[in-house]
Amino acid sequence: MTDDNALIRPPQEVLDEANVQDWEGLLATAGADPVAFWEQEAAELEWSKPWEKVLDDSQAPFYHWFTGARTNIVTNAVDRHLTTARRNKLALIWVGEDTSKVRTFSYFSLNREVEQMANILRSMGVEKGDVVTIYLPRIPEIYFAMLACAKIGAIHSVVFAGYSSEALNARIDDSESKLVITVDGSWINGSVFPMKQIVDDAVKFSPSVENVIVVRNTGTEVTMDPTRDHWYHELARLPIAQGHCETVQVDAEDPLFILYTSGSTGKPKAAVHTHGGYQVHLSSTMKNCLDIHEADRWWCTADPGWITGTSYVIYAPLIRGATAFMAEGSPVYPYPDVWWQLVERYGINGMFTAPTAIRTLMRFGDAWVTKHDTSSLRILVSAGEPLNPEAWRWFHDVVGQRRCAVIDNWWQTETGAMQVTSLPAMPKKPGSAGKPIPGQAVAVLDEEGHEVPPGTDGFLVLKNPWPSMLRTLFKEPERYVETYWSKYPGYYLTGDSARVDEDGYVWIIGRTDDVIKVSGHRIGTAEVEAAVNSHPAVAECAAIGLPHEVKGNAIHVVAVLANGYEGSRELVGDIRSHVSEHLSPIAKPEAVEFVDKLPKTRSGKIMRRVLRARALGQDEGDLSTLEND
Ligand code: WT7
Repeated sequence: MTDDNALIRPPQEVLDEANVQDWEGLLATAGADPVAFWEQEAAELEWSKPWEKVLDDSQAPFYHWFTGARTNIVTNAVDRHLTTARRNKLALIWVGEDTSKVRTFSYFSLNREVEQMANILRSMGVEKGDVVTIYLPRIPEIYFAMLACAKIGAIHSVVFAGYSSEALNARIDDSESKLVITVDGSWINGSVFPMKQIVDDAVKFSPSVENVIVVRNTGTEVTMDPTRDHWYHELARLPIAQGHCETVQVDAEDPLFILYTSGSTGKPKAAVHTHGGYQVHLSSTMKNCLDIHEADRWWCTADPGWITGTSYVIYAPLIRGATAFMAEGSPVYPYPDVWWQLVERYGINGMFTAPTAIRTLMRFGDAWVTKHDTSSLRILVSAGEPLNPEAWRWFHDVVGQRRCAVIDNWWQTETGAMQVTSLPAMPKKPGSAGKPIPGQAVAVLDEEGHEVPPGTDGFLVLKNPWPSMLRTLFKEPERYVETYWSKYPGYYLTGDSARVDEDGYVWIIGRTDDVIKVSGHRIGTAEVEAAVNSHPAVAECAAIGLPHEVKGNAIHVVAVLANGYEGSRELVGDIRSHVSEHLSPIAKPEAVEFVDKLPKTRSGKIMRRVLRARALGQDEGDLSTLEND
């Protein structure tokens, strides 16, 4: 059991160096006037035209921030550093899965790479407002590609490099991308994952795609369609790729990117994020909450295909002028000390990862960590799912040697950046995500919308609009209003249940909708069910999330077989691989169980709640809506 009142004070050396020492003072001033707080944070960045209004709520819930201002996130992430001594500072250190492969880029050379990619995109007819799909692994080119799109005002849509061709195709089609940027293949634990082949399969059915740019990465042989596919290194030699490329100044509210995420239906939805407010929120949280310092080397292990990576791998460290570190490989390949070896070798100061990775590494034992010198670490960060107290303590005691601040933080693809966190100087409660960030306020509501007393579970909502909020769902404004703003008008509905304790600390319990967080990855039950149902042996099925020691949750599928099929071990294996191939290996079910019948309401909706309760041996609750035979 967790003791909600066990406060852990941050180590003195963290306190002494923290950007924010008086965290209570900051929360109080920002809380008293959030708009003034965000305006002050925005003033640290460059704008080619100042804003007329910080927050325009006249069309709520379509909020607008820094209206009238002109800027570009690349001006702040790259360009402005070029006129200072930072031009010769390392912007990026990259290490391959084969850790002897290292590539480094100063801000000066990063800019050259981004200009080159931007020139190439332009020459292929990419214009402001066009959507470019980026399907790349964790290699430097993912920085270049994202920044190049932003630089010319195009909208990037990064699709996680582990998605299948069907999932990629759905995202390309929905966004009507004209161009896709990919690689020949990516390295996964010593083997090649054929990304170009997946793109070939995906774009076969995507009429919008005119060009595919292929970065040579693994050297794997691929098929190139001469009318559509281009090697990046060949394009880079052409005259059109050379020379300066101006960063286009865009409206603060112009879209920067869309990012697809899972919701309650099988159709993924794309959160729309903009240049102006997003850069302010990232800059502010990177400084106040993640405590970045000028000389820091910052490693966020997330993938840019997820929001944590887009925000805290790509943009935030560059906006603050720090040195970003990126590793291509996984935490356990070739050995479970590869991360600590990299921390030691590169002197990492801030490290941001996910609870699943922490729990995985914890199981290998302390010696893999302690044989390395990890004393450069000062800030240890976790997000994506609840960090259980046991993993929190291991992160703090073993990785951090009790000298680091462990910072949990809660947020979502939709929120763009963190909303609840424990500031470095704030006393910590292991297991709690912390308190609302400066400028934010939360509430926990019951079904009717009344605030519940401290310590009571309910629906978590955000009370204040914030600069990095999604502006809408791409091409689906009604769905935006319906999903986030209609249950409790005036409040942003997070989809999570939580409680807030007597001291104002937020304890996240989990999703209340049809979303499962598996190893921190957000997966919709409907997407899994669609993949399972496409297997010929399956008549219908339901996917549910059940607790898992390492992954947080694991996907269990309960299926009814089609006529003429018999349940067998082989069939279970086959259905699991089918999901892996047709959706993604991250969505591969842990278990598949065959039943004669699924519990349904009279109107035919599958009652996943009942299946979960059955699987957990719990009371099945109110069954009055269950259909009768
Ligand atoms: C969902 C959003 C961290 C942003 C990347 C994930 C869960 C996120 C925490 C946390 C407990 C967390 C929530 C949320 N979640 N952070 N610190 N503690 N739960 O963004 O993929 O859109 O998922 O992740 O359930 O709603 P995402």
